[in-house]
Amino acid sequence: MVKRLFLILLLLPLVVFAENGTIQSGKIWPDEDGNHINAHGGGILKYNGTYYWFGEHKSEHTSSALVGVTCYSSKDLLHWHNCGVALSVTDERGHDIEKGCVLERPKVIYNKETKKFCMWFHLELKGQGYNAARYGVAVSERPEGPYEFLYSQRANKGTWPIEFGEKEIASANALNMADFKEGWTPEWLEAVGKGLFVKRDFKTGQMSRDMTLFVDDDGKAYHIFSSEENLTLHIAELTDDYLHHSGRYTRVAPAGHNEAPAIFKHDGTYWMITSGCTGWDPNEARMFSAPSIWGPWTQHPNPCRGPLADKTFGGQSTFILPVSSGDKTQYIFMADIWRPRHPSDARYIWLPIEFEDGKPVVRWREEWSTF
Ligand code: DGJ
Repeated sequence: MVKRLFLILLLLPLVVFAENGTIQSGKIWPDEDGNHINAHGGGILKYNGTYYWFGEHKSEHTSSALVGVTCYSSKDLLHWHNCGVALSVTDERGHDIEKGCVLERPKVIYNKETKKFCMWFHLELKGQGYNAARYGVAVSERPEGPYEFLYSQRANKGTWPIEFGEKEIASANALNMADFKEGWTPEWLEAVGKGLFVKRDFKTGQMSRDMTLFVDDDGKAYHIFSSEENLTLHIAELTDDYLHHSGRYTRVAPAGHNEAPAIFKHDGTYWMITSGCTGWDPNEARMFSAPSIWGPWTQHPNPCRGPLADKTFGGQSTFILPVSSGDKTQYIFMADIWRPRHPSDARYIWLPIEFEDGKPVVRWREEWSTF
């Protein structure tokens, strides 16, 4: 009897969540089987009327990838079916995605021409900390996978950003790491802005860490990632099959130290929300806008409002999901509350984006419903 009562008490919050049919950020989010959803640093793809949520599988005691990328599906963004592992790490020693690597922030987009689902993610090779700074690409014919790993590498080897003309290339080429004994001085920051790290990594490829993907209205897709030791964001155009970089890329907020990019487009304006770089600890969100994906990008104040607004409510951005009903579109800001000591217990923040004076605002709500 006591056991049964204990079980009922244990399950009560789950039942309340499902019955209320509301989104409650920071709580346990049970899937259809009653297990907390394990899809962190994730993103969502809508395909044929179903939402597919892809994210990092997190284990009990380590943030390294022991399983891979998980996939959940839902029709209403509230009830989630566990579709299993979309991309598995492997036991093969020395493989790019060997079990124990760091595999973060997976995102999937659908290519209408090739009819393939294309997954990109941040990859760090096993045993190398965060030094590899690569992106990985995998592909599948079905949204839920299994995905076939294609390759991983650094970005845009041997290519300057599109805004670099002869003068900028000459100025970047004149910069040398050895001339800067100390980081974070005004001179060093100026040099970073002019491409100190772009030049350093020119031959081997640009670093690629926290990332997202974005498909524009014209079908062109972009990979947006923290590069240059997380000091500068890069936006790189993808090839038509969404499996490679086309070679065209731009830098956003040089030396601005941004991570966790999440992007959406509203009424022709591109909006990007990012975080600062404080590891697993939350910090104040940043926001940028641009009239074109190629910029110019302008920084705005923190869009968050409410308790812990100066710490992104305890979370870090990961994705912004447009949800449409009739002629209305709502944008959902998605973030992760990391729990590095118990990674699988990390929580999710989903909040609707409102507009005030034409600018996005993310206001804390204990619970809310999509339309
Ligand atoms: C912050 C990043 O946004 C996360 O994805 C992860 O890489 C952690 N840093 C690791 O400290």
